[in-house]
Amino acid sequence: MNIIIVDNNQEVGSTTGEMILEKVRQNPNTILGLATGSSPISTYEYVVNKTEQENIDWSNVITFNLDEYKGLAPEHDQSYRYFMNEKLFDKINIKKENTFVPSGLIDTDEEANKYDDLIASKGGIDLQLLGIGTNGHIGFNEPGTSFDSITSIVDLTKSTIEANARFFASEADVPTQAISMGLNSIMQAKEIVLIAIGANKAEAIYELARGKFSPEWPCTILQNHPNVTLVLDQEAASKLQ
Ligand code: F6R
Repeated sequence: MNIIIVDNNQEVGSTTGEMILEKVRQNPNTILGLATGSSPISTYEYVVNKTEQENIDWSNVITFNLDEYKGLAPEHDQSYRYFMNEKLFDKINIKKENTFVPSGLIDTDEEANKYDDLIASKGGIDLQLLGIGTNGHIGFNEPGTSFDSITSIVDLTKSTIEANARFFASEADVPTQAISMGLNSIMQAKEIVLIAIGANKAEAIYELARGKFSPEWPCTILQNHPNVTLVLDQEAASKLQ
């Protein structure tokens, strides 16, 4: 596992943004796995600015997002589809039909499972971007999730609902379920970059890098992946020293 520790959120963004852009520069048909939440915002800002400065072509890039809240339509302003359009897709020349986000409007695991087939049919993810929950979740794979899981409908824990309430009018408005790529789905990516910013991520980062391999800390599955890079600010890395 490669660990890159930088000074602040802005440097997390430029470091991770360069890793993403390097893939796109080298291979215009690259397939990216993307994340939402606060952690990737500085990365997407960097990517958008550099794309404009260097006139980088995204017209053949394909993207797959990790997850979506169950019950939220793509137009909902807290849906992850809306977030991705606003932070990235509307600001680069990617074709919308090449951007995939799990549908929040499906009702069965059978429908959710098809997302893995779709990813495989396109050739698999070259670079997967991840954030991490304070409880060690990646995607919305909460503690206790099987390491074999594929894309499915998942329950969010109380701590995740509380953490994400900051984006909603009230905690009661936060969906209690999501459609999430599974842990096994995430492990299929050829390369993974995980970003973490802030002291509240330090324990999860410690478990990921040094902890015992266990579904109680879903992030520890990444210990078995051959090509993982962590991009951390000083605070998220504080328990590693
Ligand atoms: C988002 C996702 C989640 C977040 C995690 C951290 O697509 O899959 O695992 O990465 O909850 O969220 P932030 O970055 O808001 O702290």
